[in-house]
Amino acid sequence: MRLAGTVAVITGGAAGIGLAYGRRFLAEGARVVLADVADPVAAALELAPERAYGVRTDVSDMASVRAMVHAAVARFGRIDVLVNNAAVFATLKPQPFDEIPEAEWDRVMAVNVKGTALLLTT
Ligand SMILES: NC(=O)c1ccc[n+]([C@@H]2O[C@H](COP(=O)([O-])OP(=O)(O)OC[C@H]3O[C@@H](n4cnc5c(N)ncnc54)[C@H](O)[C@@H]3O)[C@@H](O)[C@H]2O)c1
Repeated sequence: MRLAGTVAVITGGAAGIGLAYGRRFLAEGARVVLADVADPVAAALELAPERAYGVRTDVSDMASVRAMVHAAVARFGRIDVLVNNAAVFATLKPQPFDEIPEAEWDRVMAVNVKGTALLLTT
């Protein structure tokens, strides 16, 4: 219970590695906010209805990130830890660098670069 009393926001926390982070933080006594563009509410309820809170969030959208931070503080009163985990990665199709469509560049940069920065600065 090394993290009792702390609150962790985990982006991309509805699935995959982010969900595993959530489980581990809970096991260590933290309260967790799962912030994911894929609905994280069910995952949070299944993990721990009292200590896990799912907030649908698009990390590439400033208004969405701000709304999530406000919701997290309203629910748990504080944020101590940020796990900037959300990314477009596992779903990308391997392909030659010069054949990557422009829309994919834009999505990857918006989520992986801008999204990471928005979480750090909000
Ligand atoms: N899987 C691997 O082998 C591997 C290797 C190295 C690093 N990573 C990193 O670990 C992290 C998690 O990887 P994963 O394999 O669990 O990926 P995943 O695709 O299984 O999960 C990523 C999560 O991020 C969410 N997400 C995507 N776009 C989002 C957005 N705009 N806003 C909020 N949430 C969004 C998805 O809905 C999903 O739940 C990523 O940062 C990835 O780059 C993964």
